[in-house]
Amino acid sequence: MTSEQDDRAFRALTQKITRARGLVCDSYKDRCLRRRIAVRMRARGVHTFDEYGRLLEQDVREYDLLLDALTINVTKFFRNVETWRALEPRLTALWTARHGEVRVWSAGCASGEEPYTVAVALAETARRLGQETLLSRARVDATDIDRTSLERTRAAQYPEAAFTEMPRELVRRYFSAEVPRRPLPELQRIVRVLKHDLTSEPPPAPPYDLVVCRNVVIYFDRRMQERLFSLFADALAPGGVLLLGKVETLFGAARARLVLEEPRERIYRRAEAGA
Ligand SMILES: C[S@@+](CC[C@H](N)C(=O)[O-])C[C@H]1O[C@@H](n2cnc3c(N)ncnc32)[C@H](O)[C@@H]1O
Repeated sequence: MTSEQDDRAFRALTQKITRARGLVCDSYKDRCLRRRIAVRMRARGVHTFDEYGRLLEQDVREYDLLLDALTINVTKFFRNVETWRALEPRLTALWTARHGEVRVWSAGCASGEEPYTVAVALAETARRLGQETLLSRARVDATDIDRTSLERTRAAQYPEAAFTEMPRELVRRYFSAEVPRRPLPELQRIVRVLKHDLTSEPPPAPPYDLVVCRNVVIYFDRRMQERLFSLFADALAPGGVLLLGKVETLFGAARARLVLEEPRERIYRRAEAGA
């Protein structure tokens, strides 16, 4: 097969996936998609994109397995713990300014470790300020495109392996003692789980004081990354904070609106109105 035929077969396959499941494949990096699709092709013993397309028509359950493979959902509580430490003083300032009414969006939340990390960080801030009762005023919108991830976030039951980066004292304070561990009900109450496609839908309920989108934009092509950075800037309240993944860097038009505050931790802040 020539590389032109191979490209054509690949395009036909990604269009089929978009039609069947709404995943806008064009926005993802080709290299990334091809690698993930190849994993499923090997698992099913087929060798060409055409063959795999036919298989999807015959066995629609394969779509679920493919979508699982395409939406990489590795995550952990307090992933890159130093980043969460750097965020602490900002959360304290936010908490005080908003009297607990802090609005957070965890976009691409996978199985929920990230939004529950935010919930723990908010609860800790409230505790240190002696304002525990205000926690119920906070809200964390946890969104993802992947149904299985959303079900896991709603179920909120985590194996011990999910906690290796989280300080033990916080695990003891905010999670059940028995494994699988569950976050305390007051944390579960502030996390709202929603299905949301970053590539085609507006932010669920702006304005947000904090947008956390880590290890997600890396899978998109530059055009989509630039669009998402502007979307995050729009979604933030003036003075709001954006947290990206450790290897993700903001570029494009949003750079004029989001100031880089902590280069190593990828913490940005939207300029205050009129600043
Ligand atoms: C590697 S995980 C990141 C999880 C978490 N943010 C973290 O850093 O630990 C990437 C997540 O992005 C989600 N994702 C991929 N494409 C998406 C899209 N178009 N809209 C929303 N979420 C998407 C995947 O389903 C997956 O759960």
